[in-house]
Amino acid sequence: MNRKIIGSILIAVLLGFGVWMFFQSPFSGSTQQSLPAGVQQDGVSIMDLETQKAGNRPVKTFELKAKETIWKINESKEVEAWTYNGKVPGEPIHVTEGDYVKVRLKNQLDVPVTIHWHGMILPNQMDGVPGLTQDAVQPGDTFTYEFIANDAGTYWYHSHQHSSKQVDKGLYGPLVIEEKSKKFEKDKTFILDEWAVNQEKQSLSNMGGMMMGSMSGDGEADTKQMYDTLTVNGKSGSAIQPLELEAGETARLRFVNAGYQRHRLVFPKGSMKVLATDAEDVKQVGESINTLEIAPGERIDVAYTKEKKGLEVIGEDPQLQNADQMKIPVVSNGKENMSDGNDLNVETASSIGSGTSKGSEQLLFDKVPETDVSYQMDLSMGMNMGEGMAFQINDKVFPDTPMISVEEGDIVKVKIKNTGMLNHPMHLHGHRFQVQSRNGKPYDAPIVKDLIHVKPGETYTVYFKADNKGEWLFHCHDNNHADRGMVTIVDYEGVYSPFGLGGENSNQP
Ligand code: C2O
Ligand code: CU
Repeated sequence: MNRKIIGSILIAVLLGFGVWMFFQSPFSGSTQQSLPAGVQQDGVSIMDLETQKAGNRPVKTFELKAKETIWKINESKEVEAWTYNGKVPGEPIHVTEGDYVKVRLKNQLDVPVTIHWHGMILPNQMDGVPGLTQDAVQPGDTFTYEFIANDAGTYWYHSHQHSSKQVDKGLYGPLVIEEKSKKFEKDKTFILDEWAVNQEKQSLSNMGGMMMGSMSGDGEADTKQMYDTLTVNGKSGSAIQPLELEAGETARLRFVNAGYQRHRLVFPKGSMKVLATDAEDVKQVGESINTLEIAPGERIDVAYTKEKKGLEVIGEDPQLQNADQMKIPVVSNGKENMSDGNDLNVETASSIGSGTSKGSEQLLFDKVPETDVSYQMDLSMGMNMGEGMAFQINDKVFPDTPMISVEEGDIVKVKIKNTGMLNHPMHLHGHRFQVQSRNGKPYDAPIVKDLIHVKPGETYTVYFKADNKGEWLFHCHDNNHADRGMVTIVDYEGVYSPFGLGGENSNQP
């Protein structure tokens, strides 16, 4: 029996027992809900923290209009997308290290939006989190984000208002900070995503997803039911734009996963070397592999060399659902004949490379540091009466999750343990952490990142320095999970957020 049928039967059975739960977002409603105690405290408002100044840096200005667009995914599929500047992904923002970036957001949608600069280390009030670092930008309103493009690498931007819906509908785009002297002539960005085109997106408020979770061991039971279409830069299958490269030529390819499902790309053997993950340069540790696993929210840069004169393909591991829709053809002079589908063969992934299989060039700590704050983060699933499935941190859902309380300068240790059945890509705003060990086993070559993919049964220990004052989210980047509670705050002593959840601005981080 196919999974959808099993799912439907389960749902029908559950209906029979009268446990159908209607979707009800925990953050909707019109009364302003205050943030956890502690965020609302004495001290300095985050709005009074120091911001950055252009000085004599080159200023790069952009305008992003959030608007609705009918987006063609391929010949037969189109969606009512929400976009930045009418395309998916949104307008690319390419700047050079050291630039001062100014982005004016104009909201032409009829719902409030924001922009979060994923992976950027910037002043707190530019972080784009409604209810925490700003009020959501209302229909017709504008908001200007400004920050220094400090650290070369691959980033992306996305709305942080009701993200489970808004990022799903296309409110995201690439942010690339180039090095002053580029290492590779050719440089391309590929944003991976998935959509529910031919079906209603399943809501996690029914328990089908959880039941399915127990049936499949890859931690993706829920996303596999929700989505039917995979895209690369907004296009699916044969509509994906080929990468043009001469035989022998090497390019820097930047991959971003904007979806909520993990992807696994397979390259021709020996053609690819990982350069960076989450904007941190990495070095090769152990043998090189030809597959890349990319978690939701994660960025991985590789150097890829086209070996052959003819067609090559970079594509999703054929063992994964709908893999056929995610293939990037690599062509020289555009002459290859691609009508022969057999040419677009992707090998089955052998060993799985991921962001944690390489050590970082530059560490935050050269040995395990003495810690000032220790936080045990248990990720679990549960039920919330009246609201359906809950994704919990330490048995609570946001905003009731215990915060990570720090003082400026603290060294913070977070031990993240996934006791549930689904994958949780945990992302920290405004900081990077050093991943020191997995399942209690220290890494020989630790890695510095801002997102760690914690699979069922896994435990990771990460360390970061509290060196960017403010109120910062630490959450699961499967935004469907974040929406149902898997969010907490790194709360600095002596500052508070003047914003709140809900309220007249409908702030919904
Ligand atoms: Cu892409 Cu809260 O982040
Ligand atoms: Cu999750």
